[in-house]
Amino acid sequence: NSKGFDLRDPLELAEIEAERTRWLEHRWTGGPLLAAAGDESGRHVEEIVNPAHGNDRVGKVAWCSEADVAAALSAAQIWDAPPEERARVLCRAADLYEEHYGELFALISREAGKSLPDAVAELREAVDFLRYYAGFATGDAPRGVFTCISPWNFPLAIFTGQIGAALAAGNAVLAKPAETTSLIAWRATQLLHEAGVPATALQLLPGEGRSVGTALCSDARVSGVCFTGSLPTAQAINRAMAANLSPDAPLIAETGGLNAMIVDSTALPEQAVRDILASSFQSAGQRCSALRVLYVQRDVEKKMLDMLHGAMDELHIGDPWYLDSDVGPVITATAKKGIEDHIAKARSDGRILHRLKTPGRGHYVAPVTIKVSGIEDVEREIFGPVLHVASFEAGELDQVIETINASGYGLTFGLHTRIDDRVQHIDSLVNVGNLYVNRNQIGAIVGSQPFGGEGLSGTGPKAGGPHYVPRFRAAKVNRMPA
Ligand code: NAD
Ligand code: ALA
Repeated sequence: NSKGFDLRDPLELAEIEAERTRWLEHRWTGGPLLAAAGDESGRHVEEIVNPAHGNDRVGKVAWCSEADVAAALSAAQIWDAPPEERARVLCRAADLYEEHYGELFALISREAGKSLPDAVAELREAVDFLRYYAGFATGDAPRGVFTCISPWNFPLAIFTGQIGAALAAGNAVLAKPAETTSLIAWRATQLLHEAGVPATALQLLPGEGRSVGTALCSDARVSGVCFTGSLPTAQAINRAMAANLSPDAPLIAETGGLNAMIVDSTALPEQAVRDILASSFQSAGQRCSALRVLYVQRDVEKKMLDMLHGAMDELHIGDPWYLDSDVGPVITATAKKGIEDHIAKARSDGRILHRLKTPGRGHYVAPVTIKVSGIEDVEREIFGPVLHVASFEAGELDQVIETINASGYGLTFGLHTRIDDRVQHIDSLVNVGNLYVNRNQIGAIVGSQPFGGEGLSGTGPKAGGPHYVPRFRAAKVNRMPA
């Protein structure tokens, strides 16, 4: 039931623009939100800069010290309010998020480099998570203290979804946002507190993953970890938990993917091109769900690629604050370098199919297509607007799926075909958490299209689905006398 934010309605758009423009030059100052004071002397202060403009200083955030982590662990207390009170508070927080939409849209664009449509989708998803998980605040069997560690690419939605689920189950939460998007997390936490979440039940610990994050996964007082981010980090957390936490402490992890799409010769070309563009280049390819390896049936390959490259030429790369921008920046200079190194290697191997021009300033990476023989040529998730393209003959379809499964990842998979039996057949073969047919392969809808991967892509349960909150509770069996 979240507010519409319909950008196609000129009156609503004008209102949204006016509201977020008030925050265009604002500078935020945030930091840890702890129930008891830590030792502030050891805190590093990080300056947050807009990834689209080096000269837009968004604000400053103080990072936690080791003393802060110790203070937070000592102060944490499960949220022992009755379930209906917890649900009411979470719904009140959803209302507050909606009331503060202008500020949150501005922060999402300026801190995370996201477009207005992406910011709208993110706020809607965050609000939906809060209201949906509030409905699961029944019964009381919290596990205790939950560490929630989130990534920068959905700095409001994933941050809020993890916390909302842990709180709905009555746990105490220690939340560690991504280094680059700590200000959004700090504002969201303030709104959750304002709604009535006790300071002892939700504490914010911004800081570096390798120090603060590691400490929050290595203390025996932590009863579970909810993590979304890269596979190597999930593996490091898994090792830290195994060495220090109780063996029954769950790791709920959502990680990356090497997501593929198959387009066969019966697909509608215009529709396929539209969906390939959105899947690969929306949010500058910085979505875990984004398409990384496109397989096109050989007899339509030339036509499809000509159309795709023509459509790519129409994309406008630029400041995500403006509505005519299709592809914004990547998050940091380091991220840009990693992606550009991958593209440079493909260029030296003569595998670039098509590349747009990069604007001069900001951390922009121009969308590119790279020829590969298959998913096995792509060694790791390249988290940017880079699409690898392979081709296949009709008789090779099962073999292609086998190779995709062999990557070990299993997050999203796209299929464009007009053969119904083929949909059923591929559905029965491919090991992924989310299969998208004749549409783009990004996005999820809380409550009706839950999201989560298999294999190297995640432990499950799916976020936004009915099995999620129960994982944050201790399983109890109450036996009554017969
Ligand atoms: P990341 O793994 O670098 O960081 C994620 C979080 O982990 C950050 O808060 C970081 O500070 C923290 N961290 C880093 N090292 C840590 C450690 N040793 N111990 C504890 N915490 C640590 O990921 P990222 O770059 O922020 O996000 C992008 C990644 O997230 C991509 O791989 C993407 O596919 C994945 N992702 C997955 C989903 C999903 O639902 N499956 C959604 C969004 C993003
Ligand atoms: N649901 C997220 C997406 O759309 C993770 O990519």
